[in-house]
Amino acid sequence: MRKKIVAGNWKMNLTFQEADDLLGDLMDRLEEIDELDTEIIICPPFTYLEMATDCCEEYQMFEVGAQNLSAFDQGAYTGEISAAMLESMGVTYCIIGHSERRKYFEEDDKILKAKVDQALENGIIPIFCVGELLPERESEKHFEVVRRQVRHGLFHLDTNEFSKIIIAYEPVWAIGTGMNATPEQAGEMHAYIRKLIDERYGSEVAQATMILYGGSCNSKNVKDIFAQPGVDGGLIGGASLKADEFVSICIQASNI
Ligand code: 13P
Repeated sequence: MRKKIVAGNWKMNLTFQEADDLLGDLMDRLEEIDELDTEIIICPPFTYLEMATDCCEEYQMFEVGAQNLSAFDQGAYTGEISAAMLESMGVTYCIIGHSERRKYFEEDDKILKAKVDQALENGIIPIFCVGELLPERESEKHFEVVRRQVRHGLFHLDTNEFSKIIIAYEPVWAIGTGMNATPEQAGEMHAYIRKLIDERYGSEVAQATMILYGGSCNSKNVKDIFAQPGVDGGLIGGASLKADEFVSICIQASNI
């Protein structure tokens, strides 16, 4: 079984001091563990990225991801953060296509495709999020929706580029609701995404692609979700803000 990935998406939470305390608490707890076979990625807000990359360099226990990047290369785009800027400060991953960005910032397939390209051109690994809304699942359109998101956001890439991508399946109805997808629902969608990749890039690439599950993961439910075939780890929101919860998730991911 390959190493699972546990990524923490802090979203727009925590003050500077709280972020510092959380990182300190996480490092204390992680240092106590003898062997941990989990790849950990922490995705704080932009303002705390330097704090996180410093910590990453000092402890070598996790990698750092951003939560967003600009679809533009560089120049007169006030308020934007480019992929090159992130790369230059030691950030290695970036969440792209999160449902909150699709919803509140109207990021559509075209913008997301441009962001994926910016990331790859600058050596940043995209964690590309897909997932259906509740009415879409209720009307059994969830496969169709996810197929569109995967195809429009990623399938323009050549095999070499696509091989770098991590996908996160995050059903929107499960995000922050306490209503996680059942392990079977997650497993079924992960298998479907892998089938799409197989059809486009072949079975070797499909088998090698890491597909994470996200949506109300916590220390109580991850064991069953992560044990599903084809679930390669998780993208954790709320539970990544609590050191004990997040570390417990990392330990359970290591033991599967
Ligand atoms: P929650 O774990 O809080 O449901 O959030 C999931 C998520 O959106 C991670 O990107």
